[in-house]
Amino acid sequence: EQNERDSQFIITDFANKHFQQNLHSHEQGNIGQAYLKERGLSAAIIKKFELGYSLDAWSDLTDAALKAGFKQQYLEATGLAIVKDDKRYDRFRGRVMFPIHNVSGRVVGFGARTLKSNDKKSPKYLNSPESEIYHKSNVLYGLYQARQAMRMQDMCYLVEGYLDVLSLHQGGIDNVVASSGTSLTDGQIKLIGRYTQHITVLYDGDAAGIKASLRGIDLILENGLNVNVVTFPEGEDPDSYIHKVGDTAFKGYVQQQAQDFISFKASLYAADTKDNPVKKAEAIREIVSSIAKIPDSIKRSVFFRSCSLIFDIDEQVLVSEYNKMQLQDR
Ligand code: GTP
Ligand code: MN
Ligand code: MN
Ligand code: MN
Ligand code: MN
Repeated sequence: EQNERDSQFIITDFANKHFQQNLHSHEQGNIGQAYLKERGLSAAIIKKFELGYSLDAWSDLTDAALKAGFKQQYLEATGLAIVKDDKRYDRFRGRVMFPIHNVSGRVVGFGARTLKSNDKKSPKYLNSPESEIYHKSNVLYGLYQARQAMRMQDMCYLVEGYLDVLSLHQGGIDNVVASSGTSLTDGQIKLIGRYTQHITVLYDGDAAGIKASLRGIDLILENGLNVNVVTFPEGEDPDSYIHKVGDTAFKGYVQQQAQDFISFKASLYAADTKDNPVKKAEAIREIVSSIAKIPDSIKRSVFFRSCSLIFDIDEQVLVSEYNKMQLQDR
């Protein structure tokens, strides 16, 4: 209902301003400032993305909101406050706050990072829960700030995390978004598709990142968009890597390393397939299964061709394997 949504927007906006005030004006704010500085973020980026800080206290935001005349009901509906056994307290405490904007620029929720580097008791990141205004599967972190650049450059970089988005922006790469609070969804890809049909996946250089890239590729292809992939050295993510090598070298690396999904998958399995025909067959089948996701038949045939060249295998064999898959899917 419209009133409910409006009230949720207004209190979320209040919280966003409150967290920023904490970061910039409260005596505890310097803890958050120091953390962001240590992560290499400039004042300009902190301002542009409206980063904030939630005080290390039980009910700083709740108290301020109630005092300003907001109803407890909306604090709970947006997940900013938690009620448990008659106790009310703030969900976000002692964390750096990353407001998440919708495409019209309104804040719909938050990501929040703990400042502790290895605290096993609390999660590294906390997210706002789903609400009337925050549907995680249809929101992309950074889209509001990236959308014009995505259109102008006709390409979108897709990263895993908040810090990846911020550090790339700071390095002059504006067309970058992250799927926050969820693994990549159809809705998020369709959202990107409003601005560009080209996605380059820049996921973390670890097993989880590779796995997520494979899943992302198929989802992107299924939605009719084009996908390239850049991998990073083991243990690096876009944020750590751009700080390690610098902006210029990072841009060069991304340009040079970007490969289409077939080359990416082929090189992923290359070590296995070298002198092993069985493994080679499995790799080819894997790639055909990705090509099969592409709705456009002309694109499909271009990729069959490229796959046949890479693996030195007859194109017709690939097509008939594809046809077999189509029959099995029914
Ligand atoms: P930094 O350590 O701050 O550089 O974060 P990161 O983004 O590199 O973290 P990581 O690669 O581990 O995770 C990628 C993204 O997954 C994060 O930006 C979050 O959106 C999400 N994520 C990571 N850890 C958690 C967690 O403990 N809980 C939740 N809900 N999300 C998480
Ligand atoms: Mn930097
Ligand atoms: Mn990771
Ligand atoms: Mn990461
Ligand atoms: Mn990181």
